[in-house]
Amino acid sequence: MKVSVIGAGNVGATCADAMAHRRVASEIVLLDIRENFAEGKALDMMQTATLNMFNSRVVGSTNDYTKTANSDVVVITSGVPRKPGMTREELIGINAGIVKGVTENVLKHSPNAVIVVVSNPMDTMTYLALKESKLPKQRIIGMGGILDSARFKCYLSLALNASANDIEGMVIGGHGDTTMIPLTRLASYKGVPVSQFLAADALKKVSADTMVGGATLTGMLGTSAWYAPGAAVSALVDSIVNDQKRLFSCCVALDGEYGQKDICLGVPVIIGKNGWEKIVDVKLNDEEKALFAKSAEAVRNMNSVLASTKV
Ligand code: NAI
Ligand code: 2OP
Repeated sequence: MKVSVIGAGNVGATCADAMAHRRVASEIVLLDIRENFAEGKALDMMQTATLNMFNSRVVGSTNDYTKTANSDVVVITSGVPRKPGMTREELIGINAGIVKGVTENVLKHSPNAVIVVVSNPMDTMTYLALKESKLPKQRIIGMGGILDSARFKCYLSLALNASANDIEGMVIGGHGDTTMIPLTRLASYKGVPVSQFLAADALKKVSADTMVGGATLTGMLGTSAWYAPGAAVSALVDSIVNDQKRLFSCCVALDGEYGQKDICLGVPVIIGKNGWEKIVDVKLNDEEKALFAKSAEAVRNMNSVLASTKV
């Protein structure tokens, strides 16, 4: 199996490294526009093969898409990350042009690939990739909800003083500070609702911390995070390449599901070799439904900014 990662910056390189460790693919190609940058990252990673005991071949490329030919999955991380105080939405003008050009180049050489979009604002960039590529909708997946869900489980585990691996929880909706929806009502500690262990104000804090999870790290690091985003992409690609049928929250095209149409938004989906294979209909209560509709409205507003931006 072959996976290409476009953008060899913090998220792209971390994701390639995580995929090598996880033995997701026999060949991983890293591509960047910075001269020799992806080659350097790839060579550095290859020199960890005997230490980390993986056999994947990691190849770097300076904007040469022939090296990405016949990829099974292509991950798009190219673009500008968020700086402190900057919203994901402010990135739109710059990143839309990059994502559009990259999508065209990728498809010339890997017409059958599943495309994973990471660049922000991710929900709008996923919508852009869907429209530009004209691919079947199952082959375009935006990654944000897996990361947000991992952050949600992390904050829950800290509040519970429990292992994060004993926590189940999911975040749906948009990948934005005000648009994501941590599904606190459905979160559990080994199957037991977390509300049995945590008071309402503690759960509210977990939810609020999750929603600003990305911004908190951007404030601390001076740029957006990379370890958890890279690991989240790697888990997603693993499920595609190895047809694991994992249930993840991913940004996909909705056609009436969850009451929305003509939008890409985070919902629970089954991920396998064909991309996203099925949207899982979680029964939301009225409050959650209202939050989902509000989230869709915000993402739709962002998509209309895209429509009025010359890309
Ligand atoms: P970074 O600046 O470290 O890396 C971006 C890389 O893209 C750079 O190396 C740059 O040279 C490259 N690049 C720019 N234009 C390109 C082009 N046309 N073709 C190929 N490569 C190109 O940024 P970082 O931290 O890796 O973030 C990347 C993107 O991912 C940002 O938009 C960021 O906001 C987003 N992000 C999304 C997350 C999510 O959960 N969806 C999580 C974290 C970051
Ligand atoms: C994150 O959530 C900024 O999308 C990026 O870390």
